[in-house]
Amino acid sequence: MKTLPNRKITVALLFGGRSGEHEVSIDSAESILAALNPRKYEVLQIGITKEGEWLAGPDMVAYLRSGRGKAKSVSLQPEPRGQKKRWQDQVDVVFPILHGSFGEDGKIQGLLELAGLSYVGSDTLSSAAGMDKEIMRRVFQAHKLPVPLYEAVLKKEWKGKNSSILRHIKKSLQFPVFTKPANLGSSVGIRKCANVSQLAQGLQTAFRYDTKAIVDQGILGRELNCAILGNEDARASEVCEVKTKREFYDYDAKYTDDDTEIIIPARVSKTVRAEVQKLSLSAFHALRCSGLARVEFFLEKKTGKILLNEINTLPGFTSHSMYPRLWNFSGVSFGQLCDELIGYAIKHQAERKSLKFTY
Ligand SMILES: Nc1ncnc2c1ncn2[C@@H]1O[C@H](COP(=O)(O)OP(=O)(O)O)[C@@H](O)[C@H]1O
Ligand SMILES: [Mg+2]
Repeated sequence: MKTLPNRKITVALLFGGRSGEHEVSIDSAESILAALNPRKYEVLQIGITKEGEWLAGPDMVAYLRSGRGKAKSVSLQPEPRGQKKRWQDQVDVVFPILHGSFGEDGKIQGLLELAGLSYVGSDTLSSAAGMDKEIMRRVFQAHKLPVPLYEAVLKKEWKGKNSSILRHIKKSLQFPVFTKPANLGSSVGIRKCANVSQLAQGLQTAFRYDTKAIVDQGILGRELNCAILGNEDARASEVCEVKTKREFYDYDAKYTDDDTEIIIPARVSKTVRAEVQKLSLSAFHALRCSGLARVEFFLEKKTGKILLNEINTLPGFTSHSMYPRLWNFSGVSFGQLCDELIGYAIKHQAERKSLKFTY
């Protein structure tokens, strides 16, 4: 099937956004802009402000960082096409490099789909399911993939029944446990809790960010990651280990701490490496992801068990982020990664377009 046009491909790079990862997204976009070969691509830069306004201009990276420069407001209208010339009609593929809420959670993907556009990454359902830590775990469990023990708690249940919920969790899990808002990222709102009173505080914190929280059995061990690239034919990268001197891989360990180490390749046995790669692919396909994902694991010290923690469907994409670094080690350069992702997006859209929606 011929999917890539013979002329220059017009890519709309969408970045910034309303999530806590606004700045990371700008950094990711800057790396992508530097890597896209100008002989192959025409790039339309669309920056989304923290307030959610969409702006287009020649240097949106600088504009979003400083508020200075040229930018005009743009919007995305759903199909069908009208008389007016619209930016989206010139675009072959959208590269939404938006991490976290409103970017990685299926919302923007739904909008792009309504507008009939090809886009890099997973579609609405896979993105939304990959964002919700309870739904994701349920899908993994249905596919018999090993996950840590956990409980999901709704804010409305918590309000009325604090003590019975705490009693239940005390019975079903062992301390330490981790409390997390169900739909967030970057370790925001996550607490490690050593006892019942910390658990109560941890849940209270999680409910500031979401109406659903999950409580995880704390796993003592090492953290491993693997990157996935492709659609149905996806492949797995080398495996890395993340090491932090902090209590866990929290926000500061991710973004501010210079001591955090990413060890590629992880010093693990061939069997562990192969198992992590296999489980990463299974997790990717279980959620029917597309394009890319970074998958996180725990290697439990006591038992040697590999447990699947989560999948990130739009992982950090700066030149020093884990995802491109894993691929770089596995022989795929940053530029090649962008080329492949754009190709996969166009292929995926061709498949969507071939489907019928009426009788
Ligand atoms: N069950 C657990 N056992 C041990 N550490 C955990 C557990 N859950 C989370 N953590 C720690 O918290 C970090 C962030 O949790 P994670 O579930 O990956 O959320 P996020 O989506 O914010 O990255 C993990 O990388 C790990 O260091
Ligand atoms: Mg994580």
